[in-house]
Amino acid sequence: MRLYQVTVVLLGLATSALGGGLVRRQATNDSCPGYTASNVQDDGARVTADLTLAGTACNAYGTDLVDLKLEVVYETESRLHVKIYDAEELAYQVPESLFPRPSSNDIDPADSALAFSYTSSPFTFSIRRKSTNETLFDTSAASLIFEEQYLRLRTSLPSSPYLYGLGEHTDPFRLNTTNYTRTLWNRDAYGVPTGSNLYGHHPIYFDHRGSAGTHGVFLLSAAGMDIKINDTDGQYLEYNALGGIFDLYFLAGPTPKDVSVQYSEISGKAVMQPYWGFGFHQCRYGYRDVFALAEVVTNYSQADIPLETMWTDIDYMYLRRVFTLDPERFPINLMRELVDYLHDHQQHYVVMVDPAVSNRDDVVSNTGYNEGVEMDIFHKNANGSGYYTGSVWPGPTVFPDWFHPSSQEYWDNQFLRFFDAETGVDIDALWIDMNEAANFCPYPCLDPEAYSDESGNPPQPPPVRNNSDRVIPGFPQAFQPSTSQTRLRSRQANGTGKYLGIPGRDLINPGYKINNAAGAISMNTIPTDVKNYVGSYQYDTHNLYGLMMSIASRNALLARRPNRRPLIITRSTFAGAGSHVGKWLGDNLSLWEHYRTSIANILEFASLFQLPMVGADVCGFGGNTTETLCARWATLGAFYPFFRNHNGDTSISQEFYLWPTVAEAARNAISVRYRLLDYIYTHLHRQSKTGLPMLNPLFFHYPEDTNTFSIEHQFFYGDNILVSPVLEENATDVTIYLPKGIFYDYWTHEKIVSNGSFVQLKDIPFTSIPLHIRGGSIIPLRAESTNTTTELRKQNFVLWIAVNETDQAEGSLYLDDGDTLNQNATSEIKFAYANGTLAMTGTFNYRTDVVIQNVTVLGSAADVSGNSSSGYRNGNLRVGGSAMVRGPISLDRASSRSF
Ligand SMILES: *[C@@H]1O[C@H](CO)[C@@H](O)[C@H](O)[C@H]1NC(C)=O
Ligand SMILES: *[C@@H]1O[C@H](CO)[C@@H](O)[C@H](O)[C@H]1NC(C)=O
Ligand SMILES: *[C@@H]1O[C@H](CO)[C@@H](O)[C@H](O)[C@H]1NC(C)=O
Ligand SMILES: *[C@@H]1O[C@H](CO)[C@@H](O)[C@H](O)[C@H]1NC(C)=O
Ligand SMILES: *[C@@H]1O[C@H](CO)[C@@H](O)[C@H](O)[C@H]1NC(C)=O
Ligand SMILES: *[C@@H]1O[C@H](CO)[C@@H](O)[C@H](O)[C@H]1NC(C)=O
Ligand SMILES: *[C@@H]1O[C@H](CO)[C@@H](O)[C@H](O)[C@H]1NC(C)=O
Ligand SMILES: *[C@@H]1O[C@H](CO)[C@@H](O)[C@H](O)[C@H]1NC(C)=O
Repeated sequence: MRLYQVTVVLLGLATSALGGGLVRRQATNDSCPGYTASNVQDDGARVTADLTLAGTACNAYGTDLVDLKLEVVYETESRLHVKIYDAEELAYQVPESLFPRPSSNDIDPADSALAFSYTSSPFTFSIRRKSTNETLFDTSAASLIFEEQYLRLRTSLPSSPYLYGLGEHTDPFRLNTTNYTRTLWNRDAYGVPTGSNLYGHHPIYFDHRGSAGTHGVFLLSAAGMDIKINDTDGQYLEYNALGGIFDLYFLAGPTPKDVSVQYSEISGKAVMQPYWGFGFHQCRYGYRDVFALAEVVTNYSQADIPLETMWTDIDYMYLRRVFTLDPERFPINLMRELVDYLHDHQQHYVVMVDPAVSNRDDVVSNTGYNEGVEMDIFHKNANGSGYYTGSVWPGPTVFPDWFHPSSQEYWDNQFLRFFDAETGVDIDALWIDMNEAANFCPYPCLDPEAYSDESGNPPQPPPVRNNSDRVIPGFPQAFQPSTSQTRLRSRQANGTGKYLGIPGRDLINPGYKINNAAGAISMNTIPTDVKNYVGSYQYDTHNLYGLMMSIASRNALLARRPNRRPLIITRSTFAGAGSHVGKWLGDNLSLWEHYRTSIANILEFASLFQLPMVGADVCGFGGNTTETLCARWATLGAFYPFFRNHNGDTSISQEFYLWPTVAEAARNAISVRYRLLDYIYTHLHRQSKTGLPMLNPLFFHYPEDTNTFSIEHQFFYGDNILVSPVLEENATDVTIYLPKGIFYDYWTHEKIVSNGSFVQLKDIPFTSIPLHIRGGSIIPLRAESTNTTTELRKQNFVLWIAVNETDQAEGSLYLDDGDTLNQNATSEIKFAYANGTLAMTGTFNYRTDVVIQNVTVLGSAADVSGNSSSGYRNGNLRVGGSAMVRGPISLDRASSRSF
């Protein structure tokens, strides 16, 4: 959703009104005295100490705190926790209710992979990997600064390190090592510009040192911050935060996947998604009425492109007000018929909900506002009087205070009423947006009216269209031109305390300026001096707003459909969000660059941040796509965990059926995706249980192969399918890296023995995408693709056995009903192939009539060699050198078959 363009005049005004910090920015950080450790208590698993300011306060950006405390806990063999906090315990700490802390096993340090050591005066600490004696973190490079509104900690690093993470950003996957600033401050970031802070807050980095191992460092802090990576005065990474404490978790690895697993123990395990959530989704901003939605559904069907879910942006709302319907364009009776039609055809429906609530109550009753007022759950002005009023899509709006104890009940009530299955819009999932929180009205918001629309007027929906020429085959009578429609005229239907933040700070204009691309920290959001119900301030909790809306929304969906897995796609996230929701990557543009960048971005969320249900807007949101970009993007998007075509209201239409090439690309790609749906679903289930990522950057599989460390345009879908999209406009070739080992071309089954080299693939049509199966794997596929995922579940399986150098392979398959929150009968099947025998073991509790209908061993007979592009030319599957065994093999019990 596009951010309203802030006028330069206002931005400039407000920025200068807030100025004054720039001079002090040059303050003499390096004259800061640091701290001295005393009263060190060491009881093995736990080390505590008092830290006292070691000299004259430097007050670089405010007031130095004199007394700190250190607490070090050897929590597990692979996790070491270092916490430096204010002795008074006032500085903001993220509540347990939003980010539950992992429990500590308090292990004997002798059993830890990591070692903590320190110097007392000045106080510095370092973390070592014991097996190699490699220093992983060392704060001696610059003095520790801990002020009321500025915290600094610097660690030395080896030169040119391989660092990943610190999202959300669209910078290179491997982070820059020189002159680089990563700012974390959640922001409505139209066009997802590189070098800027975007929607999410994920302060974890992976530090990969090849054969010396990988470790992770997570800073549990909601504070706005600049993380600087630079190589002057030695290579370093430096945190510069506006508040909070230093709450650092060191994760020992030693492999990248180990770090992912160890982080999942802190962030929480990824939430399971409904099976149908992996279907193909269509959306756009600017579907002008319910007829337009019906037409798109029909067009997909006629084009024979499987459409699982139809989405609607804010267009459905009355003047863009949440929890209302436009009575002219999206009347409730037709909306209910549309949703019934979709459900009758095994399809789904989703709409967007924004947090900001219009404060207007005219024409269409605004229950969402009135009930919020009754329950008094909206944010108040900083001076405590009245509700803070900003401006979002509907014009003047108020914002739910998620810290209010009644906010959940309020949110539940809105969902129960507006999305009532019998009388309302019976949605199947939810899309939440603008929850950074975004506010079009720049600080200080003196006139929210002025930002209600680009022309300064209340938002005007498009005129109602004459529907007499709109024949929509297959849809109910009400949608047909002969019927006169019944149109509904209107739808009736505090002070601070422990961990709440240090009192007396300048909450609007902190001395240190983070590099927020929106300007001052209160720009285009809820002002940072607005107090939350519990007594904390937006200054400290801004980055939690999207997470809190996500949690409230998940609860609200569960209230209306108990015991069914909610699919929720959010824009703003915080560390740990993946245990509640999925996410899309916001407002990208229809650019080849954004098509390429999306690969690193989905890897960051799925593999590093433990938020696997992620995708970018396919074909691009802003600007106009082209036929070839959209065709390529359809094939790449089929390998995003969340696969949705979405675009903006001023862009040309880009539904897949609009161009022949795109339609063919989409049919091909959806077919592969659906056949592999259980394969990826099995990986999601594994990630939800273990934290092992369901997408893998190449270096996750080949951590000692330096060629893989910077690769950001190829990835493994699941463990075993290497996806290598064509990257350039008009190109039909791409140079890819094939790590050392055996691979099989997905399309031709051709066996490729790679010694670890870059190879050029040629003649790749716009309707296809290079895919390679890793030797040593067994891939379960559905026998055929289908029109919906409901039909897909009735399809039998086939197994593809892709053997390794020793003619062995293994794989797995997880089966459940795909929808129930608490599953009581699941199957977790392991496949192992060796010595010509396929063995199936595991648990077999999910009842199904579906069987494994046949098994194909790839490349075991005569290997096909030669031009690896030949398979693309004829388009069809050319099975080269395969042994095939006919089934059926039951999925109800363990068994073994010889070939
Ligand atoms: C480990 O490294 C530290 C710091 O680099 C050094 O002081 C120490 O002697 C090393 N220990 C061993 C066993 O090499
Ligand atoms: C560092 O980056 C800034 C902003 O991107 C740029 O203006 C400056 O020239 C760079 N400095 C060096 C030493 O590269
Ligand atoms: C990196 O260091 C150079 C030299 O000290 C400095 O000019 C530059 O601003 C630094 N970059 C960042 C992002 O801190
Ligand atoms: C570093 O990151 C910026 C984004 O801030 C990017 O635009 C730039 O190209 C990168 N520079 C290098 C040398 O990689
Ligand atoms: C898909 O096929 C099934 C079975 O033929 C049918 O019931 C359903 O309506 C179809 N759905 C769509 C969207 O085509
Ligand atoms: C915060 O304010 C609420 C409501 O005014 C009150 O109930 C609560 O006790 C306050 N908390 C603190 C820590 O002052
Ligand atoms: C996209 O195409 C439309 C229709 O041709 C045009 O009005 C619009 O200006 C284009 N947008 C951009 C960003 O080029
Ligand atoms: C791709 O081909 C189109 C049509 O021939 C052309 O307009 C465009 O400039 C080409 N793009 C590039 C990057 O060569």
